[in-house]
Amino acid sequence: MLMTTSPLITLLLLLSCGIGDAHGLMVRGNSSDMLSLLDFKKSVTSDPNGALSSWNTSTPFCRWNGIMCSRKHPGRVTKLHLGGHGLSGPVSPSLSNLTLIKEINLSSNALSGQLPPLNHLHKLEVLDLGNNSLHDTIPDALTNCSSLRILDLYRNLIFGEIPPQVSMLSVLSVLRLSLNNITGIIPPSISNLTSVQKISLSWNQLTGSIPDGLGKLSNLSVLTLGENGLSGGIPQSLSNLSSLRILGLELTVLGGALPPNFGNTLPRLQWLYLDSSMFHGYIPASLGNASDLERIKPLETRECVDNS
Ligand SMILES: *[C@@H]1O[C@H](CO)[C@@H](O)[C@H](O)[C@H]1NC(C)=O
Ligand SMILES: *[C@@H]1O[C@H](CO)[C@@H](O)[C@H](O)[C@H]1NC(C)=O
Ligand SMILES: *[C@@H]1O[C@H](CO)[C@@H](O)[C@H](O)[C@H]1NC(C)=O
Ligand SMILES: *[C@@H]1O[C@H](CO)[C@@H](O)[C@H](O)[C@H]1NC(C)=O
Ligand SMILES: *[C@@H]1O[C@H](CO)[C@@H](O)[C@H](O)[C@H]1NC(C)=O
Ligand SMILES: *[C@@H]1O[C@H](CO)[C@@H](O)[C@H](O)[C@H]1NC(C)=O
Ligand SMILES: *[C@@H]1O[C@H](CO)[C@@H](O)[C@H](O)[C@H]1NC(C)=O
Ligand SMILES: *[C@@H]1O[C@H](CO)[C@@H](O)[C@H](O)[C@H]1NC(C)=O
Ligand SMILES: *[C@@H]1O[C@H](CO)[C@@H](O)[C@H](O)[C@H]1NC(C)=O
Ligand SMILES: *[C@@H]1O[C@H](CO)[C@@H](O)[C@H](O)[C@H]1NC(C)=O
Ligand SMILES: *[C@@H]1O[C@H](CO)[C@@H](O)[C@H](O)[C@H]1NC(C)=O
Repeated sequence: MLMTTSPLITLLLLLSCGIGDAHGLMVRGNSSDMLSLLDFKKSVTSDPNGALSSWNTSTPFCRWNGIMCSRKHPGRVTKLHLGGHGLSGPVSPSLSNLTLIKEINLSSNALSGQLPPLNHLHKLEVLDLGNNSLHDTIPDALTNCSSLRILDLYRNLIFGEIPPQVSMLSVLSVLRLSLNNITGIIPPSISNLTSVQKISLSWNQLTGSIPDGLGKLSNLSVLTLGENGLSGGIPQSLSNLSSLRILGLELTVLGGALPPNFGNTLPRLQWLYLDSSMFHGYIPASLGNASDLERIKPLETRECVDNS
């Protein structure tokens, strides 16, 4: 009896060991990241350049195009870089299982649908989903991404308000939300983003006034707020932004004039976009002292502002 079954058992053992070994070689460590990536691939409906053709189980997933894995934690994905490959389809929520990921860059594709859930991505430093067709709100859960340095959702179909909790992203240096359909006010809490260097919110439907506290963000070098429904004038506090290189306030219904000492307090200013009414009426003489200034004009095309 034993003699007759043992070849079968041996065969089964061999088979399962064989598969196990193959998996061990291919996957090493945590294969749940591989399954998450395969889910991502499955939801992509078009891959015109074959960017995902190496994404198959005969290639170790850490060597798939656009994937980088951790050295410390073998088999765990740290980077997903697939910008500009013409990928279309929804972004699989399975990305939220890549819990050690640091960089997601899927910019300039044709991705649609919702953002992936972000609440478990505590290590995420870069989220660049700019220039796609994502249709979603900015989730509150973003605040769990406490390592986030770059948040770029530029040129999508993002709607709803900027969550005030965005201010909890204490190391955020780039906040780029321009060319979307974002409504509501600029939350005053934004002035708590003490590391921020670029804030681009132009081409949305923001209303209310420019928060006075922006003047506290001493490292700010790019601030574009143009083409919104902002009102209430330009706060005097902005003249404290001595690192400012690009200031875009064009085509808003802002009203008011530039603070008279602007040119003296913003020595680094290179580009200044203003509403044409301000341009004709209220340019302070002090701008003559902003010696780097090379452009000062009302906005001409959609593209100008987003060279930032
Ligand atoms: C794989 O990663 C998941 C998600 O981080 C985790 O829950 C699971 O325990 C890990 N498994 C192994 C074997 O490390
Ligand atoms: C799997 O990926 C490799 C490249 O890593 C490629 O050469 C091969 O053709 C792919 N296989 C399939 C079935 O797509
Ligand atoms: C994302 O990738 C594109 C290239 O595909 C690159 O131009 C861009 O700078 C990257 N974004 C970030 C934040 O590094
Ligand atoms: C994440 O992984 C768990 C188990 O590993 C799975 O049950 C779940 O469906 C995955 N979530 C997504 C959004 O893929
Ligand atoms: C946006 O993405 C398209 C491809 O989908 C690309 O042709 C275009 O250059 C991108 N624009 C910017 C400003 O990155
Ligand atoms: C943030 O992460 C913690 C721990 O993973 C989780 O319990 C909490 O629900 C998350 N917060 C949000 C807003 O998703
Ligand atoms: C932007 O939002 C407005 C009002 O919420 C809506 O009517 C419009 O269709 C939206 N536009 C896009 C491109 O989503
Ligand atoms: C900024 O953060 C401090 C401390 O966390 C908090 O007390 C304050 O209310 C915040 N400011 C705004 C405008 O949210
Ligand atoms: C401002 O930027 C400088 C140089 O990039 C950096 O050393 C400094 O820590 C930044 N300050 C804050 C508050 O982030
Ligand atoms: C501008 O900076 C000065 C000195 O750094 C400070 O006293 C003042 O309160 C600041 N003004 C605003 C409006 O932030
Ligand atoms: C330009 O700067 C000089 C030197 O700091 C100062 O004397 C002058 O008043 C400034 N010009 C204007 C128009 O503010």
